[in-house]
Amino acid sequence: MLEASGIAEGRFASIDPGALPLEVADGMIENVLGTYALPFAVAVNFIVDGRDVLVPMAIEEPSVVAAASNAARMARPSGFTTSASAPVMIGQVQVTHIDDVDAGAAAVREHVGSLLEDARRLVPRLAERGGGPVGIEVRSLANGGPDGGVLVVHLLVDCRDAMGANLVNTLCEALSDRIALIARGRPGLRILSNLTDGRTITVRCRIEETPEIRAAVAAASRFAELDPYRAVTHNKGIMNGVDAVLVATGQDWRAVEAGAHAYAARTGMYKPLAIWRDANGALEGELVMPIAVGTVGGAVRCHPSARLALDIANLDHAERLAALATAAGLATNFAALRALATEGIQRGHMALHARAKVSNA
Ligand code: MEV
Repeated sequence: MLEASGIAEGRFASIDPGALPLEVADGMIENVLGTYALPFAVAVNFIVDGRDVLVPMAIEEPSVVAAASNAARMARPSGFTTSASAPVMIGQVQVTHIDDVDAGAAAVREHVGSLLEDARRLVPRLAERGGGPVGIEVRSLANGGPDGGVLVVHLLVDCRDAMGANLVNTLCEALSDRIALIARGRPGLRILSNLTDGRTITVRCRIEETPEIRAAVAAASRFAELDPYRAVTHNKGIMNGVDAVLVATGQDWRAVEAGAHAYAARTGMYKPLAIWRDANGALEGELVMPIAVGTVGGAVRCHPSARLALDIANLDHAERLAALATAAGLATNFAALRALATEGIQRGHMALHARAKVSNA
């Protein structure tokens, strides 16, 4: 397994117990007592956008790595294909106590050009890399009440390979006084939104199966499409794969979780993020979700195992990381539905776990 990654053996020392140096951990968060280990594994058999890739996963739950590897093997003939939107994050600047919200919103809209210029001046290096502030939107939220007239200005920022939280928060803080002045109100909160619906990815795969299994998995998908109680569990099975990759690569998985579930509920009814259809003699799966990840900044900068995980998967762009994490999510979703719709999860997953242990031995 080590050889398959093509990475020098010595570097794997960084996933030995205790290999996050205490002084690094101490610099990452407050009141540090020590470090906390999780199993770190790779899922195999993945082809994502035509490339063979090892998928690093850190997770405490048995069977997820085996299930992902098994599903990826079944999807291998066509592999996983992905398409991503531009990595546009939303920063929110709230303005309160506006006497005339409509007039305030109109005034901000008139100043969009110069506000964007101000924002771009603040992040020249991001603009050089092809990113930076790309738009401003205004939404009226309340005409009166405890906070008076309230509007929110969305600053849209193409964050390229950064997750973007620090960047977007800094920009929002820098612009808020001017925005409040223009809207004739008081500056309120300035913070990014974790509903990153401008930064989504679509991943698809096609799996050959018997007509019985195709019908059973498609029916399991329809169950999740009809029932939010089932959809949540269906999505949990997706996040098993997604989160395991995010944890291994040092990402803010809480942000992705929060965004994913809000996105799942965007129509007013909580829906599955991935659906499966029995079409053209195979099962066709499609997962669409927002995913804000970065290959620069954050924990990636200082955590040796996160860096190693990115190198194992040969990832140097945020979009590729998002593609890999969501391919893993579609794989774990398929494995769960297949097991549930046939022999049941206890038998199916546990058998996989046992098989994987034997074949890895
Ligand atoms: C368990 O971690 C995940 C599943 O519950 C997902 C699902 O029900 O689809 C098996």
